[in-house]
Amino acid sequence: MSTLQKKISISEIKKHNSGDSAWIIVHDQVYDCTHYLKDHPDGADNILINVGSDCTEEFKSIHSNKAKKMLEYYKIGELITTGYESSPNNSVHGVPSSNLYPIKEAAVVVRSVALVPREKIPCKLVTKTSLSNDVRLFRFALPNEEQTLGLQAIMRDPEDHTEMYVVYANRMENDILMKDELDRWAAENYDIVKVCYVVQETVKEEW
Ligand code: HEM
Repeated sequence: MSTLQKKISISEIKKHNSGDSAWIIVHDQVYDCTHYLKDHPDGADNILINVGSDCTEEFKSIHSNKAKKMLEYYKIGELITTGYESSPNNSVHGVPSSNLYPIKEAAVVVRSVALVPREKIPCKLVTKTSLSNDVRLFRFALPNEEQTLGLQAIMRDPEDHTEMYVVYANRMENDILMKDELDRWAAENYDIVKVCYVVQETVKEEW
């Protein structure tokens, strides 16, 4: 029996990341959940935060066997993976090829927000500073200098009025990292950013 399946690239899947076209990856298979969103017992939101990405772990851990069978109905193809498992006789350092996890096609899209749920992004270590006997400050650069992180992304978007309350708990004042930046962000964005520091012990008078 022919098991020919449409091969779909990760960059194609990433485009289907909304309620208009909602694709997910489970075990390297690609599913189009668009028409199931309105019927999903838990509502559409939990599917929508995963669309355009691999949600194998979430899907497996949450669902019954019945739901896993239902998923098959929505299959539209198979993720293109490159790896060792397809070529014969390719043991690497004595590890059988079947034990190697396939390498997914690298994403080439540069996003404005750097962090993406469940994806690793390469970040270069820029500086390492010793702040106290048990605290080190590692500074990493984002992959692209145009990119921002979640908090910065909200602050830089004039249309985004999300209010952010940062409750930052530390052992002592000296352990608080990025205090100057956080204070500056709170001062510059006082309408949306509030920062509250909590310390267990204090060594400074004014605390
Ligand atoms: C076409 C794709 C999907 C199908 C067919 C499906 C089906 C179902 C079904 C039948 C249930 C009822 C409980 C059960 O029988 O397991 C359920 C519950 C649930 N689903 Fe999905 N689901 C899909 C995608 C997703 C995705 C992508 C997520 C998020 C990772 C998700 C999250 C949940 C959650 C949180 C519940 C509630 C679990 C609970 O209350 O115990 N589902 N789903």
